[in-house]
Formats: sequence, C-alpha cells, structure tokens
Amino acid sequence: MRRIIVLGLAFNMLTLLVQAQVLVSPDKNLSMKFELKEGVPYYQLTYKKKVVLKPGSLGLEVKDAPSFVDGFTLTDTKTATVDTSWNPVWGEQKTIRNHYNELTVTLTQKDQKDRFIQIRFRLFNDGLGFRYEFPMQDNLNYFIIKEEKTQFALSGDNKAFWLPGDYDTQEYSTVTSNLSEVRGKMKAAVTSNASQKTFSPTGVQTPLMMKSKDGLYINIHEAALVDYSCMSLDLDDKNFVLTSHLTPDAIGDMGNMQAPCQSPWRTILVSDKAGDILESKLVLNLNEPTKFEDTSWIKPIKYIGVWWEMITGKSQWSYTDMPAVQLGVTDYSKVKPHGKHAANTKHVKEYIDFAALHGLDAVLVEGWNEGWEDWFGKSKDYVFDFVTPYPDFDVKELHRYAASKGIKIIMHHETSGSVRNYERHLDTAYQFMVDNGYNAVKSGYVGNILPRGEYHYGQWMNNHYLYAITKAAEYKIMVNAHEAVRPTGLSRTYPNLLANEAARGTEYEAFGGNNADHTTILPFTRLIGGPMDYTPGIFETRVSAYNPTNNSFVHTTLARQLALYVTMYSPLQMAADLPETYNKFLDAFKFIEDVAVDWDDSKALEAEPGDYITIARKAKGTNNWFVGSTCDENGRMSSIDLKFLDKGKKYSATIYADAKDAHYETNPQAYIIRKIEVTSKSKLTQHCAPGGGYAISLIQKK
Ligand code: NOJ
Ligand code: CA
Repeated sequence: MRRIIVLGLAFNMLTLLVQAQVLVSPDKNLSMKFELKEGVPYYQLTYKKKVVLKPGSLGLEVKDAPSFVDGFTLTDTKTATVDTSWNPVWGEQKTIRNHYNELTVTLTQKDQKDRFIQIRFRLFNDGLGFRYEFPMQDNLNYFIIKEEKTQFALSGDNKAFWLPGDYDTQEYSTVTSNLSEVRGKMKAAVTSNASQKTFSPTGVQTPLMMKSKDGLYINIHEAALVDYSCMSLDLDDKNFVLTSHLTPDAIGDMGNMQAPCQSPWRTILVSDKAGDILESKLVLNLNEPTKFEDTSWIKPIKYIGVWWEMITGKSQWSYTDMPAVQLGVTDYSKVKPHGKHAANTKHVKEYIDFAALHGLDAVLVEGWNEGWEDWFGKSKDYVFDFVTPYPDFDVKELHRYAASKGIKIIMHHETSGSVRNYERHLDTAYQFMVDNGYNAVKSGYVGNILPRGEYHYGQWMNNHYLYAITKAAEYKIMVNAHEAVRPTGLSRTYPNLLANEAARGTEYEAFGGNNADHTTILPFTRLIGGPMDYTPGIFETRVSAYNPTNNSFVHTTLARQLALYVTMYSPLQMAADLPETYNKFLDAFKFIEDVAVDWDDSKALEAEPGDYITIARKAKGTNNWFVGSTCDENGRMSSIDLKFLDKGKKYSATIYADAKDAHYETNPQAYIIRKIEVTSKSKLTQHCAPGGGYAISLIQKK
C-alpha cells in the first residue's frame, strides 16, 4: 500500500514537472513558478527564498463568449535572455540596463477550437513583469473584456500605502495601514473630489507599495498602458489576495479588443532594501523604445507660473464676474472686469522678468483664455476654444517680450473634462502654439468626462491622452497632463510626455493640506510610473499670507521644499511660489536656480516609505551632485556617506538645512545655509526638523 502511494506521488510529481515552469532572475534572487492546475494558470514568486506571492491565478473574463480563465493546456514554452542598455532622452540616469530572463507560455483551449493566448513573463533582478498576449488566429478576432482576473496572492497582512480605488482620481491622501485595516479605513479615506467614482470597500489603486512582515518591499503597478483600461486592485481581506479590476466604459464594459493585441504589463517590484524600489527602472524597461527619430526639441524645463496666486485665491483665472458666458457670443470687451485676473500682460511680464533674472526656462500662464467664468461643474461641452485670449492678455506682445528675454511661455489647456471639445480644437490649438512661440502645454481634465459616463481611467480616455501626446509631437510640443491617468512609463516611448499630475500635488496644501509624510511616500507610489508635476518650492507656507480667508498651510519646512527638487524626480520642475516671496529669500532660492532637471546618475542613500527619503543625483553632463532629503512629522537625524563623489576631487558643498528650532507647523521658515568642503571620504550627519529636510549642492572644484 505504502509503495503504491509513493509511486502515485512520483507520478504526480512528473505531471507537475511537465506543467510547471520555473524562471529565475539574472542574479538568481527572484524565482517565478508558472503552472497549470486543472487547466487554470497559476504563478508564484519568491525573493531570496521568501514568499512574495503565493500561487495566484491568471486569466480574463470575456463578455458573451467563452472566457480565458480555464480549460487550458500548455502547448508551447519559450525562454530568452536579454541584456542590453539604452539612453533615455531625459531621466535619472544616463544609461539604463535592461536585463531579464523571459518565459512565454502558450495556453490552448482545446474545447474552444484550439483558441490560444500567451503569457509573457520577464524576470529582472528587481522584479517581475508579465502580460497577456492575444495573437492573430482563426478563432479569435474581436472580444470584449468583462473583467481581468489577475491575482496577486500576498504572503500575509502586509503594511500598505494605499489610495481608495477610483475610476476618476488619484487625488487622495495615502493611507498607511495593514491590508486587514483597509475596509475599516476606507470611508474616511474617500475625501471629496471634482470627479470621483469608487468601486469597492476594499478597492485600492496602483502603484501599491507594501512591506511584508518578513521585511520585503513590494510594489504592484502596470507598465505600457495602451489601448486598455487602467487597473485597480480589489482586496480579499481574509486571504490577502489582490485581484485586478479594470475601469469600465460608459456601458460597463472593461475593454474592446481585437487580436492581435495585448494587455499592459503587470509589474511587481521586490527587494529587501527600500532604496532598490526607488532606483528600479523595470517599468521603463517594459515600455517600447521611442519611435521619434528627432528628439532634439524635447528639453527638461524649470519654470515659474501665474498659478499659485489663483490656487490660493489671491487672484483668479476668470476675467469677469459674469455667472455664465458663451464662446463667440459673449463680448468681453463690453463687460467690466472684476480686477483680479492674474493673466494680464503687465503681470505676466513681471513673471518673465523674474524667470529671466534667475535663469529659469519658462513661465506657465493659466487663465489666459476666454471661458473661465463658468468652466467648472456645468457639464458644458463647448467650454473653451484654446485660442481666444481675454482682452487684457496680449499674445503677440508677450511672445515678443518673452523671446527677447530667452523665456518660453507654457500654454495652458484646461479641458474641463470636455474631451470631444478638446479633440475638436486640438490641431488649431497646437498650431496657435507654434505660431506664438509656445513649445509646451499643461493640459487638465478637471470634472466629469464628456462624453458623459466615461471615466478618466477608461480605455477610451487612455486612448485620448495618448492621442493628445502623439498629436503634440507632430507639432514638436511637450505635454504635462493633469488629472490624466497615472503614468506607466510611456514617456520612454513618447518622451514629449514630460510629466503628469495624477496624485495629490502641492495644490492640495491650499485646499486643506497634505500630510507631512506625503513626500516620503509618493516616490514609492505615484512616481514608480513616471514623473510628477508636483509643483514644489513654496516658501510662504501660510496660505493666509496671500488670501486672508484661506487658513490652510503647507505641511513643510522651507528647507524641505528645496529637497523636493531632488527627491521628487521630474524633468519638469516648477518654482511654485510667487516672485514677491522669492525676493525675500534669495539666498535659499539660489538652490532652485542651481539644481539640475536632468541627470546622469541617481542614488537612493536612505529610504523608508512613510518615514524618510534621501537621494543624490549627478547633474547631466557635469561632475556636480545634488542631494535632497525629506522626512515625516517626527523629524530625524540623517547620516549619509559621500562615497559616490569622484575620488581625489574636492567639492564645495552648500547645505540648506532646517534650523535647530524649525518645525513644519510652528517655525517653517527657520533655515540655515552653510558652506563646507567635502570629498568622497566625507560623511555628513544632518538634522531634519519635523516635516522637514535638507538640500545640498556639491560643486566639483577645478
Ligand atoms: C487642476 C490642476 O491640477 C491645477 O494645476 C490647475 O491650476 C487647475 N486644474 C485649473 O486648470
Ligand atoms: Ca489636479
């Protein structure tokens, strides 16, 4: 009897071996096992023998047709190894290594006339990416996704840094809690937004950052979101299994597909060091190389803007107090202006002067065009035409003036979510930009989407965002899209997409505030997909200084605002405060003048999500480095080793730090600037105030 059992086991092991495939990472630290169990595909992941993901099933449900979830047999496997490198047009590093082992399994449904799909797995040293592929074949053409059923079966009740799952917005504060607490904390986490649609009491968004009980840092996101809807994760909080949940369209479908096609990559970053998550380039590596032949027109930008004064309520986007306007009908020249319109020629020239004096590249101007009187909340189709300025904004004169000072003006296209209207005007609007010297646009999608019923993160909208980016490229225009879907590394392929918002930016500091630990989390979450236009650089943290009726304050010390230029990577960086304020703190503003926006190298020196981040970056084409450090509300001592500096060279270090008595609530503007000489042998210990941080410029001596 015993013998029979042993034999039986051996037989089972044999079938298991045939059906199971193991893929290891180039450094052998990660191991992924794929197997079919009773026709259902499963995968699991380990890191240095610790469980990252237990067996989780894979597949998609299809509407009005058999699904891709079971009935599979493994009919082919292919493996490959790739080790190449590439140079981004702009980025955190000069050269990025793309090194992985690949396994592609072909899964056939014999009962569905041999219909088949492929799942392609790529295992890097820093994580796993996989996607579903639907090759061209006789028995598969059009299909509608009812739901994607990709499981991420976690090893336990991980600590998570999560946002409520939502089809329309990521502009929420991050909640830090164990997964078992998500349900209980969900209601309070869903704060109000101009457009929002949550879907589940345990639904969360990606990038989802987690820390396991055994010390693994795990991040789940997606790469190359193209012609597909955005993935959220629905949590089974008994078993700690996350299952993909796609954003539906206006009639509830999750995606319209036609073979050959594929899903975006599902990505899982893993390490036992938090800094490795920040340094990972896996999401970029899973995107396609750029197809743009000429990228010489794409340049990182440091800018100031006619912006914070409207966000704080000091001035306004609109020109008059009229409750309703109609483009082409309302004659603005006949109406008395309310006198708080910031985007007027004289005032914009002051910003241009400031930008020119301090070596900035550009000035953003919002509220320059007709239509702002009733732009929001009216579900108005024909809301802006993107080419008609208010009477006090002289397009030609400002173009001339800015050009004479070597400054670009950044265009602003607020669509108010009226997307058909934007597409209607897009060519004319881009041509207007070219004719008037603009080479970059900040676009925005505030409010519910028109066509009505579509969500910001659905397939139709994702196709729109990409359409706006590729069309912009035809006009050599760079794009910074706000309220668009969070990035998934697409700027590798379309490098004119400089940045997105897609999270709670600095603007929320004027709408009630961001948590003091916000910027110690965002690099682990939102920034995993790509750069954010976070708009740092607020030196006057009391919003009431600009608008006495607004009691919000910016949860930061002044020194930490400088650190954000380094810790919040973006090739597009704003100096978000007002010139009148910067003029009071010109010694601190010097760091914003000096800091680079493009880099040859980057290193995470210290990192713990939710607590602190210290990053060092080497400025493009120089031997100079910049360091930024940000911490949470508790404050801390930061200790860093400058061994990344060139050996045998001396550097002049300027340290912009919190004063001893600085505090983000009570004493935010207390900073000290000191200069010392350092080498690669130097170590620095630096005090960070509660809600504070520091910034350092390291200039190599000749
Ligand atoms: C929201 C954007 O995030 C903000 O930066 C912009 O000023 C307003 N919309 C108006 O377009
Ligand atoms: Ca926004």
